[in-house]
Formats: sequence, structure tokens, C-alpha cells
Amino acid sequence: MRKRPNEEKRPAREEKRTKHERRLESNVFDRQSLMAISKLRQQGHFVTVDYPVAKGKEANIYCGTTHEGGKVAIKIYRIETSNFIRMHEYIDGDPRFAGTSRKRFETLLAWTRKEYSNLKAFHDGGVAVPRPLAFLRNIVVMEFFGEGNIAFSTMDQLKSANPKKDYLFLLAQIKKIYQLGFVHSDFSPYNIVVTDDGLKILDCAQAVLLAHPRAEDFLARDVENLVKYFRKQGADVNFEAAMNYIKDGKPVLRGLESVKYDSEH
Ligand SMILES: Nc1ncnc2c1ncn2[C@@H]1O[C@H](COP(=O)(O)OP(=O)(O)O)[C@@H](O)[C@H]1O
Ligand SMILES: [Mg+2]
Repeated sequence: MRKRPNEEKRPAREEKRTKHERRLESNVFDRQSLMAISKLRQQGHFVTVDYPVAKGKEANIYCGTTHEGGKVAIKIYRIETSNFIRMHEYIDGDPRFAGTSRKRFETLLAWTRKEYSNLKAFHDGGVAVPRPLAFLRNIVVMEFFGEGNIAFSTMDQLKSANPKKDYLFLLAQIKKIYQLGFVHSDFSPYNIVVTDDGLKILDCAQAVLLAHPRAEDFLARDVENLVKYFRKQGADVNFEAAMNYIKDGKPVLRGLESVKYDSEH
């Protein structure tokens, strides 16, 4: 059979696919993630994955559109670049995830479940977090805070118009989380979005139960970050008073029963 002129130069089919896959992997959408996206789509959580919203420390966030034309945030944890050692600091010692293997992929699965489960507990408990909609493999789908396809800015990019009010609101959120039996553990202006319906708290994967041996350290660190940020904004705020306010009341002591995975299919 006569070869077409440039056929020799073309890479073999197998080689071509591998290259393609490698490119996809470096762009978050490895084949398994694509299958998970497709499954979430079949389940009706969105019809299209539209724009990249942000590239966080461990995940890429996309905006998706639902059948009704609404928006959702699709958070896809990167398998290649996640910090597994850091993740284990928040997984080990949390009774809900006791015995999670140290293998990279299983750590990432636990991390994704943990974010969904924490968001569910916080949202059900009236904390200002995105409503969790679904999770699968390394993907969490949640309420999108933005206008059209554009996400609202995070607090680090904006100056607070009313520092005292914002401070008291965020302190009340930390208290709610604590009284529900958790500590957020990564409370920072980068994880707070300024929406037209007030401030909202993101990035809840590392939140631990109060039973975690370092829960109190994480709480002190969260409150310190908050106090430091608002002091810079000119608010008269005090760490001890904040801690007393948070701890006034009897927190729920949670165990394994607090894991809620009811979106999994
Ligand atoms: N539900 C959401 N709505 C709007 N923007 C979001 C949402 N979730 C994340 N983002 C944007 O993506 C960024 C990274 O998300 P985050 O959950 O903090 O991921 P990471 O764990 O990678 O830090 C946030 O700072 C915010 O700008
Ligand atoms: Mg973040």
C-alpha cells in the first residue's frame, strides 16, 4: 500500500495519546477527572464547565452552568501538586478520617470528602459558606459566589469598608463553627469572599473536629490571623476578648456520626 506523503512523520497512535494525556494531566483534567466531571454532569449538577475562576494552593476552581442557567463552582484538587504532608496534619487525629492511608490518591479522596462533609455541617449549621452540592473523586461542586462568570473578590484584595462590622461578623462565624464542634484551621483573607450578600468563608477541607489534638492551636491561629488583619484595617480588636467570646457556650462534641456523604452516588 502506498503511504500518504507525510504519514511517516506522524507519531504512532499510542504515542500521540500518551502525549495528549500528559498534557491533560498537567492541566488538571486527567482522564479519571474528566470521567468524574462527566458523571457529575450526568447527575445533573451542571451542563457545562465554563471558565477557570482561580488557581488555589491545591485546587483549580471553575465556574459551571446548570440546566436552569445558574452557576456553580467546581473545585478540582490537583493530584500532581497537592501537599500531602500538609493534608495529613489535618486528617490524622480527626476521628472521622482515622486510618486514612498515606497513599497520595487516597489522601486526596479523603481530603475531598472532608471538604464536602465540613461544608455540609457548616452550611446546615448556618455558617456563611457555599452550599455544597456534590462531590466525587477529587471534585467538589458548590454554590458559586460571583456575578455572571466572574467570581467576587477575596478579602485580601479589598479594603474593608466597615472593619468593626466585618470583624464582628467573622468572629461570629468562627464561634458558630466552634460551637458546631469544629475549627476552620485556615482562616485567612484569601479564603473569604466579599459578595453582594456579605462575607462568605471558603476552603473548608482542612477544618478539624474539636477532638483533633491540635484543634485549640488551630483555633488560636485562626483568631490571631483575624485580629492581625483587622488591626491593620484600623479596628480596635483584642485576641483574649475574641477567644472568650468564641468559647462562651458549650460546643457540640462530635464523633464519627458527623460525617455526611449524602451526595455520593
Ligand atoms: N464557591 C466559590 N465561589 C467563588 N469563588 C470561589 C469559590 N470557591 C473558590 N473560589 C475562588 O477560588 C480561590 C481558591 O479557592 P480555595 O477553595 O481557597 O482553594 P485552595 O484550597 O486551592 O486555596 C478562592 O480564593 C476564590 O477566589
Ligand atoms: Mg484557599
